[in-house]
Amino acid sequence: MLGNNIAYCLKDKYEILGLYHSHPVFIEGIQTIECDLLSRKEFCNLVNRFKPDVIIHCASLTDVDACEVEQDKAYQINVLGTQIVMEALKDLPLTKVIYISSDLVYDGKKGNYSETDPVNPLNYYGLTKLKGEIEALKRETTLVLRTNIFGWNIQKKLSLAEWIISELSCGHTIQGFNDVIFSSIYTFELARIIDLALKKNLAGIYNSASSTSISKYEFGLQVAGLFGLDEKLIHSISIDQASLKAKRAKNISLLVNKLTKDLGIKLPSIKECLQEFYQDSSHQISTKIKNVKLSNIYPQTDIIPYGRQSIDDEDIQAVVSVLKSKNLTQGPKIKEFEEALCQTIGAKYAVVVNSGTAALHLACLVAGIKSTDEVITSSNTFVASANCVVYCKGHPIFADIDPTTYNISIQEIEKKLNNKTRGIIPVHFAGQSCDMKPLHDLIRKKEQVMGHKIYIIEDASHALGSLYENTSVGSCTYSDMTIMSFHPVKHITTGEGGVIFTNNENFNKKLILLRSHGITRYPDDPLPWRYEQIDLGYNYRITDIQAALGISQLKKLPLDILKRREIINSYNEQFKNLESVQIPFEVPKCATNFHLYVLLIDFEKIKMTRSQVMGALKEDGIQSQVHYIPVHTQPFYKNHFGTNWGDLPNTEKYYQKCLSIPLSPAMNDLAVSRVIKSVTKILG
Ligand SMILES: Cc1ncc(COP(=O)(O)O)c(C=O)c1O
Repeated sequence: MLGNNIAYCLKDKYEILGLYHSHPVFIEGIQTIECDLLSRKEFCNLVNRFKPDVIIHCASLTDVDACEVEQDKAYQINVLGTQIVMEALKDLPLTKVIYISSDLVYDGKKGNYSETDPVNPLNYYGLTKLKGEIEALKRETTLVLRTNIFGWNIQKKLSLAEWIISELSCGHTIQGFNDVIFSSIYTFELARIIDLALKKNLAGIYNSASSTSISKYEFGLQVAGLFGLDEKLIHSISIDQASLKAKRAKNISLLVNKLTKDLGIKLPSIKECLQEFYQDSSHQISTKIKNVKLSNIYPQTDIIPYGRQSIDDEDIQAVVSVLKSKNLTQGPKIKEFEEALCQTIGAKYAVVVNSGTAALHLACLVAGIKSTDEVITSSNTFVASANCVVYCKGHPIFADIDPTTYNISIQEIEKKLNNKTRGIIPVHFAGQSCDMKPLHDLIRKKEQVMGHKIYIIEDASHALGSLYENTSVGSCTYSDMTIMSFHPVKHITTGEGGVIFTNNENFNKKLILLRSHGITRYPDDPLPWRYEQIDLGYNYRITDIQAALGISQLKKLPLDILKRREIINSYNEQFKNLESVQIPFEVPKCATNFHLYVLLIDFEKIKMTRSQVMGALKEDGIQSQVHYIPVHTQPFYKNHFGTNWGDLPNTEKYYQKCLSIPLSPAMNDLAVSRVIKSVTKILG
């Protein structure tokens, strides 16, 4: 993170060579090379080839708990790595080294540390950073910067500030330590300090931090305040309550008088750093920095699709490693994927299967849908939301949508409820949650009257990463089960794939059984080869190859949410004043991670047909799509269930006007502005 952020800030002033270890980094205008710092020969060769004037040595194992557990690895990277850097420079006496150290060299017992205060690290990370300092200072001209930073991490791992934004955006509660005081500085400010320190040729040890200090809890509140997130989700706790592997220093605030004096500048406060961080985020600096990876996102096409998968090199690696392992299917990746999904969504159980459709089918089977049952769903959806009922010989009943949200209307559901109703499948269209609480209340009331259970199965195929009243869609707070799809156009993909979430242990057991032929094995069975088929199930298993891809994809969800939001905000801003166009309505109590961006277009007013608009967009290299042709108007439903045009006026009116334009996190600024320009030209 730091190396990349410094390179980004200083790339116009210096010729920079960036070294990375295992995560490829691409920065426009900068050469980057893979290098293992622990390979003496490799590093020496690079140094002798490039002959740097300056080395900014940021490479370090910075995970404090990992350092405690893997002390040997921490020593190798943080101490021996530094030794290798210094030794490689023996023929380059004029090369300046800047060694990035840490505030954790101090013990945190008194706070407000100056460089002359005694060092006394409490954990192994701090100790290795201190030993690294000693190695680096063997050269007289070395500058050691003791610091604590937040910035833009280009890998999936998030910096503290990014993690706070991502967790709060997902509606997760987080804990903020009220007794850890620090003087964190924004990486871009540290880059400026480094630039100036080079000009002034500073050497020796300097604290290099913000001019103020606050607790990590207060830091969280300030981030939430700036980014308009819910501060109440941050709980104030003492670090003593957290069970961390490594001991932590508490008050590691740093005094920066020495640096202020020697640079002749005022250093920014934490508040100023955070404001700058916020401004940079609204100027899409984060996207620019993170976009460095876009050159390696697949597929690479000139056409901008309405939605598509984003596969990067880490995804590919994840799949490759399963291909090299002994289990292509029925191996450990399935459970790992399910646990990661539960962790993200907050449901008790997740059962992954080989499509969203399979997930819907299993959910209906578990709900016991049979030939005498009716299940109410939306017609503004993909056919799978209704087909699953037919697979169970049930009768799908379509209820009309609410014309503002395009989601199934609760009033319309109420009109269709009767003694035969056994289930409701609300579809969170485009990613925005249906109004689940009133739906849940209505169904529980009707169950009392009718004397039987009515299952609620959420079809959240579009809604990964969305919230309803601060809880994740998928947590089943107001439903029995929720399904999602991992088809390539969805938020994350496994090629084909899906999941059923539930909080009900029996449903979970039944889903697992039906996913694999209805076959079970018994633990500690004296006959180790025995299996029994106790129900009629299917082969709806997903492979380990796919699950590994899913695990890797899921790690990118926080970035997916941020990126989609940036694109949606730009679209809304540009399209809100177009007379013949209606932008999506966002329900305030939902924080929606939209899967689709749907415009309602008054085709009569613009005197063009939908086909003509789609054709004009296509000429500009932009793919658009219609979501959806109402399911009740499909020949199969007309023929078998007697549905027809005219049944659902709001769904049909919506269908006449809708058009989905491109929305995917793989879109860079250029792609977004190409879409805006073309849409404005055609519809404006
Ligand atoms: C709303 C909805 N439900 C269900 C599905 C079916 O998912 P899958 O394609 O993974 O079977 C889709 C897929 O497009 C969908 O959009």
